Amino acid sequence: MGPLLLVLLYPLSCVSGLPFYNGFYYSNNPSSWNSHGEGIFNGVKLVVETPEETLFSHPGANVTLPCRYHYEPAPLSPRPVRIKWWKLSENGAPELDVLVAIGLRRRTFGDYRGRVRLREDGEREASLQIQDVRLEDSGRYRCEVIDGLEDESGLVELELRGVVFPYQHPRGRYQLNFHEAQRACEEQDAVVASFEQLFRAWEEGLDWCNAGWLQDASVQYPVMRARQPCGGLGLAPGVRSYGPRHHRRHRYDAFCFAPALRGQVYYLELPEKLTLAEAKEACREDGACIAKTHG
Ligand SMILES: *[C@@H]1O[C@H](CO)[C@@H](O)[C@H](O)[C@H]1NC(C)=O
Repeated sequence: MGPLLLVLLYPLSCVSGLPFYNGFYYSNNPSSWNSHGEGIFNGVKLVVETPEETLFSHPGANVTLPCRYHYEPAPLSPRPVRIKWWKLSENGAPELDVLVAIGLRRRTFGDYRGRVRLREDGEREASLQIQDVRLEDSGRYRCEVIDGLEDESGLVELELRGVVFPYQHPRGRYQLNFHEAQRACEEQDAVVASFEQLFRAWEEGLDWCNAGWLQDASVQYPVMRARQPCGGLGLAPGVRSYGPRHHRRHRYDAFCFAPALRGQVYYLELPEKLTLAEAKEACREDGACIAKTHG
């Protein structure tokens, strides 16, 4: 890639004709890197630190992806760095540039424009703040710090939490074909849950004895404790599958996934199937209230 093309793509930089590498321009002239009179990384190591644990958030929230850097040994005066955040490619989705910071200039990209900024409260901080988080924001982000030709980075994983809830038609059990299940979830401001979402809900305690549609048009149900009226004692706890069903002819309940609930949601561990009224009662006894479906 020639510098000419890149100058066109990156109008951010007023420095033209410099070598381009990985989203940044570098000066050929070592004296311009070296305004503080320090040697360039003769024995100085750049270290970038990001949290190992996955961060959890929910749509609509603001989240900060932490990233800090330091030098070993510490330099005598601050050094100018360039910072780049991007989202790694996943499941065939392309890699996405998020933010580039050079000096006081910032450039943000695509859907992140207007929603992201650097948090630089602390010295040597390069954390990324994302406002109004969206479901598509979940994934792995790389924080890259560049000082001269030294280039170090760290990963931050962001996972978005929502809530899976079983949906049964008001007329009763097993009334919905796949298309009706999709509509029913939409009417609840939700979407039909994926297997991964149902599985995570099961790990968190969801137990439901009625089979429901999932996004891949399979029909499954999550069971915490094997029991007679729920598939029998011979089957292990887990998410049990009826496999793929016919989109129009077969009728079940649905598992919906709603991203927008505030507060903490948990599932009650209960021996028997509950009616909605019983569930509400059990929640009240637990000092909580049932995650609401409306309509
Ligand atoms: C997110 O940050 C913006 C700007 O600081 C603020 O206006 C908004 O209320 C925040 N949203 C939440 C959910 O905290």
